[in-house]
Amino acid sequence: MPHAVHIHDSPPPQGVEPLVLRRVSSAFPTGVTIVSILTPDGEPCGLTVNSFTSVSLDPPLVSWSLKKTSPSLEHFDRATAGIISILSQEQAELALRFASPLPDKFAGVAHSPCPRGAPIIDGSLAHLECSPWSRVEAGDHVLYIWRVEHARLNTLTAPLTFHAGGFRQLSA
Ligand SMILES: Cc1cc2nc3c(=O)[nH]c(=O)nc-3n(C[C@H](O)[C@H](O)[C@H](O)COP(=O)(O)O)c2cc1C
Repeated sequence: MPHAVHIHDSPPPQGVEPLVLRRVSSAFPTGVTIVSILTPDGEPCGLTVNSFTSVSLDPPLVSWSLKKTSPSLEHFDRATAGIISILSQEQAELALRFASPLPDKFAGVAHSPCPRGAPIIDGSLAHLECSPWSRVEAGDHVLYIWRVEHARLNTLTAPLTFHAGGFRQLSA
């Protein structure tokens, strides 16, 4: 029974250092989004996110995760509508701006409200209008699963991509 011997001889799982996990995960290229809501005070609130992924077609679900230290967490927990704006390759500056802990990331940034008020980033490649569906405590992050109410492709320009710690252009 070599298989059973192998199992019993295996060392216990060791886990992985956070920096190693971050470096290895960054080998996986992603798109870049800005996830945004309107706070109860009527202020637009958002941040740069690349943990966005499609989860289910029926029902239509997507997910993204937010670090628990984010000052925006309480707003996202209370939001009833959220927008995921998928950025085009011309929007790297915006991605950097929304990845900084600025008090008002939206100042001077062109955006338009969706029917339920959450801000859509003008010029984005595509956007999804969502409603909260589930919230999962996931270590140092909260995983939000949102139901997609409306999805729209806005332009045919190339997406902004993120790989190995930097913004990249897709080449043919
Ligand atoms: C390409 C990129 C992707 C990011 N993805 C995420 C993410 O998925 N979740 C997250 O919590 N922070 C992510 N960040 C970091 C946040 O954008 C950054 O911490 C920002 O300041 C958070 O806004 P806040 O200060 O309002 O919390 C990402 C940053 C970059 C540059």
